[in-house]
Amino acid sequence: MQRSGQKNLEACFYSFIGAKNMCGIIGYSGNREAAPILFSGLKNLEYRGYDSCGIATVHGNALHLKKDAGKIDEVHKKLSLDALPGKCGIAHTRWATHGSVTKENAHPHLSSSGKIAVVHNGIIENFQKQKDFLTSKGFVFNSDTDTEVIPNMMEYHMKKGYDFIEAAKRSLKHMEGQYAIVAVNDEGRMVAARKEAPLVVGVGNGEYFFASDVTAFLEHTKNAIFLEENDLAAIDGGLKIFNLDKNEFVERPVSKIQWDAEQARKGNFDHFFLKEIMEQAEVIERISKMDMKIIKEIAAEIRKAKGIFIVACGTASYACMTGLYLFSKIAKTHINFCLASEFRHFKHFLSDKSLIISVSQSGETADTLSAIRAAKSMGAKVISITNSEGSSLARESDRAIVHRAGPEIAVNATKTYTSQLAVLSLLAYELDNRLDDGLEELRDASRYIYYLTSDNARKFVKGLAEILKDKEHLYLIGKGLQYPTALEAALKIKEISYIHAEAFAAGELKHGTLALVSEGTPCIAFTSEETESEMLNSIMEVKARGAFVIGIGPKRSRAFDFFIKVHEAGDFNPIVQIIPMQILAYQLALLRGCDPDKPRNLAKSVVVK
Ligand code: M6R
Repeated sequence: MQRSGQKNLEACFYSFIGAKNMCGIIGYSGNREAAPILFSGLKNLEYRGYDSCGIATVHGNALHLKKDAGKIDEVHKKLSLDALPGKCGIAHTRWATHGSVTKENAHPHLSSSGKIAVVHNGIIENFQKQKDFLTSKGFVFNSDTDTEVIPNMMEYHMKKGYDFIEAAKRSLKHMEGQYAIVAVNDEGRMVAARKEAPLVVGVGNGEYFFASDVTAFLEHTKNAIFLEENDLAAIDGGLKIFNLDKNEFVERPVSKIQWDAEQARKGNFDHFFLKEIMEQAEVIERISKMDMKIIKEIAAEIRKAKGIFIVACGTASYACMTGLYLFSKIAKTHINFCLASEFRHFKHFLSDKSLIISVSQSGETADTLSAIRAAKSMGAKVISITNSEGSSLARESDRAIVHRAGPEIAVNATKTYTSQLAVLSLLAYELDNRLDDGLEELRDASRYIYYLTSDNARKFVKGLAEILKDKEHLYLIGKGLQYPTALEAALKIKEISYIHAEAFAAGELKHGTLALVSEGTPCIAFTSEETESEMLNSIMEVKARGAFVIGIGPKRSRAFDFFIKVHEAGDFNPIVQIIPMQILAYQLALLRGCDPDKPRNLAKSVVVK
C-alpha cells in the first residue's frame, strides 16, 4: 500500500520533472564515424540543456552507450564520449530544473533487451500508464524518466512481429504529450519523429542528421528539412517521411540554411554571451540593409487589422513592450501587449479581423506557440518576428519576418533582442510613412553600439561591475521607452549574475518600492532627452534615501554617483541603452564566478508550457 502510494507520488513528481525537460537531441547515420560528429553536435546544442548527457552508437550488431550526469566537457573528460565505434548513433544533452540529475536518468535510454536506444526532448504525459502496462508484460525499467517507455514500447511491438519502423509508428500512437525523438536499433536502423517539439533533418552527402536545431549539423551540411507536426522520418534505403496523422508518406522541402558554422563558434571570445554582444553593431547594420519589402507588406497588414495584440515571453516580451510604446509614439497605432503565457485569457476579444504579432528568437517557445494557436482558432491572422527560419512559429504564422541575427548560442538573449527592437522600430516608422528616416536612425544606432562595445567602453563598465559585484539587490528605473529597457536590463543581470535586480516605471517607485531604498542601495536610472526632467524627480527621490545612483543616458547629472554616457538615439534609445547593461551583466557574472553562457536552471528554448 505504502509502496504504491509512493509510486503514485513519484509518478506525479517525475511527470513534473518531465514537463520541465528541454533538451538537445541529435542522430547521425552515414558513412563516417558517428561518435565524433555526435559529440561536436552535442557541444553545439549544449545551450539547450547541460545537466547530463550521453551518446549511443551501433557497431557489430550491438549498441554501445556512454552517459553520465554533468556538463558535456565534464562527462567527456571522464568517459571520452567521442570514442565509440560505429557509423550511426544518437546523442542527448539534458536540462531539468527539479529532481535528481543522475546517470540513470541521462539519455539515451535503452529498451529492456538493450537492442533499442532512444533520445527524447519533451514529455510523455501518460508514461505511467505505459510503464505499468509494459511492466506487467515483463519489461524492466532502469530510470525514473518518462522517456524509457518509448524504447520499451517499440520493443514490445517488435516482439509482436512488426519491423523497427512500424514498431515506432505504433508506439508513438500510444504516447500523449510532446516529443522529438530519435531512435536507433542494434542493426543501425534509425527513426525520428516530432510532436510539438522541434526536429530538423540535415541532408548531407550520403548521410543524414536529425537534430533539435540546425546548429547541431551546420558544419556538415546547410541542407535542412524542417519536419512538420507528427512527421516520422526514417532511414530506409534513403530518407522517407511519413505523417502519422495523415497515415501516408509525405514530401517535405529542403531549405538552404543561411547561417554558417563559423557563426555558431566562439572564435577568440571567452564566451558566446560576449561574442553575441559584440556582434550587435553588425547585426543592426545588416537589418538596416535588408529587403524592406516584407516590412512594407506587414505594415500594410497592421493598417488593415481591427484589434492588434503583440505577444511573447521573457526578453522577447520586453521587445514587444517597447513595440507598444514605439507604435503609439511614432505610428499612433494602438496595440495590446500581452505575455504569451497569459494570452488565452484575452482571446475572447479576437475575431477574423484581429492581428497577432508574435515575437520569438527560437520560434519554438511553447507559450508563444500556444498563444498563436489560440488566436488562429478564433480566426485571427498571425504575423511573427523570429530569428529562426523554418521554426514552428515561422511555419504556423501567416507571415514571418526572419531577422537573421545569426545563431544565438548563449542561453540569454542579446543580439536577438536588439534585432527584434530594430524590426519593430522599422515597422513603426513605415506605419508613419517615414521608413527612410527610421533606416537612417537605425544606422546611427549601429554606430553608437560599435562605440559602446569598444575595449574602453567595456573596461569602463567593468569598473561599475567591481562596485556592484557584492550587492544583493539592485533597482532599475526608466520612463517611456526606457521602462521596458530597465525591465530587460534587470532580467539580464538576474539571469547571469544571480543578483536580485528589479525594474520599475520610474513614477511607480514612490508607490511602494521606495521603502526598500536605503543608504548605498544601487539604483540604475535610464534617461533620455525626452524623459530627463521627469526622471530627475524619481532620481532625487532615491538619492534622498541614500541610493547609489548610476545614470545611463546622454547627459550627466549631479545626482549621479556613476555615469555611463550613451548617445541620444531618440526612438532607437532602447537599442543602444541596453548594450552597457548586457556588458554589466557579463562582467558581474565573471566577477561572481557564474557561467555567462549557461546560467543555472535556464534553457534557451522553453519548448514546453
Ligand atoms: O525563443 P524566445 O525568444 O521565444 O524565448 C523567450 C524567452 O524564453 C527568452 O527570451 C528568455 O527570457 C531568455 N532567458 C532571455 O535571456
